[in-house]
Amino acid sequence: MVAGSADANRQTDHAQLLRGQKALVTGANSGIGLATAIALGRAGADVVVNYVVGEDEAHKVVEQIEGFGVRAYAHQADVSDEDQVTAMVARMVEEYGTIDIMVANAGLQRDAPLAQMTLAQWRKVIDVNLTGQFLCAREAAKEFVRRGVVEEVSRSAGKIICMSSVHQTIPWAGHVNYASSKGGVGMLMQTLAQELAPHRIRVNAVAPGAIRTPINRDAWSTPEAEAELLRLIPYGRVGDPEDIARAVVALASDLFDYVVGSTLYVDGGMTLFPGFATGG
Ligand code: BGC
Repeated sequence: MVAGSADANRQTDHAQLLRGQKALVTGANSGIGLATAIALGRAGADVVVNYVVGEDEAHKVVEQIEGFGVRAYAHQADVSDEDQVTAMVARMVEEYGTIDIMVANAGLQRDAPLAQMTLAQWRKVIDVNLTGQFLCAREAAKEFVRRGVVEEVSRSAGKIICMSSVHQTIPWAGHVNYASSKGGVGMLMQTLAQELAPHRIRVNAVAPGAIRTPINRDAWSTPEAEAELLRLIPYGRVGDPEDIARAVVALASDLFDYVVGSTLYVDGGMTLFPGFATGG
């Protein structure tokens, strides 16, 4: 590599794209959140590994991240609880000095056909998937605005990445709570992007398709289910959590500094109306 400024190095050495940055990932002890926390650590960021249940897994993620020579710790908090989110971000500012990247990832499904869906199932999904992202974004944004841009760290005062889904745009029968939460995440992200861009804060979303994680095990864990699922994926493979993690690292980095208010679909073409490849 040509010797140059720290800035030039940051831009060309992809392995260290996020050197010196402080990242928090919610729901980081399994699935997409786990892979994302590890990828951020590998890219040079110090990482807070949030979890709500599954302390052992969270500690394993921390150990793996520490192996990259950066800092990490696990923090238990329910993202739908205002006081817990406030305390989580306050602790991070105390321990790491600030926050540069908030990955609002924690999410869940409570599936049922409409007539059988209870109000509790509806509320749980909206509380975690949508209200949780609102609370995490709000607490991160307060710190981004307070601190402002630190040029040696990043061109932006902070990045918020909302974990959305192809169901931000694809309706999903039998999952009205989940699809509504992700539709909401799309508008949450765009509105926050518009509101916060003047502070040089970038808000964007990553919208995964079918990724091999515990949330959708039934959809890929047998050959029959996988074959059925692949009919919806033009690219011909089920996604891996690392496919999403790489997209988050790129979006959080200065390589994507002019990307504001976008949804990056990482879905093997699931949103391309695959049924129309042969019909219509
Ligand atoms: C859901 C998965 C589903 C995928 C594609 C995701 O957002 O959580 O259960 O397999 O979308 O439909």
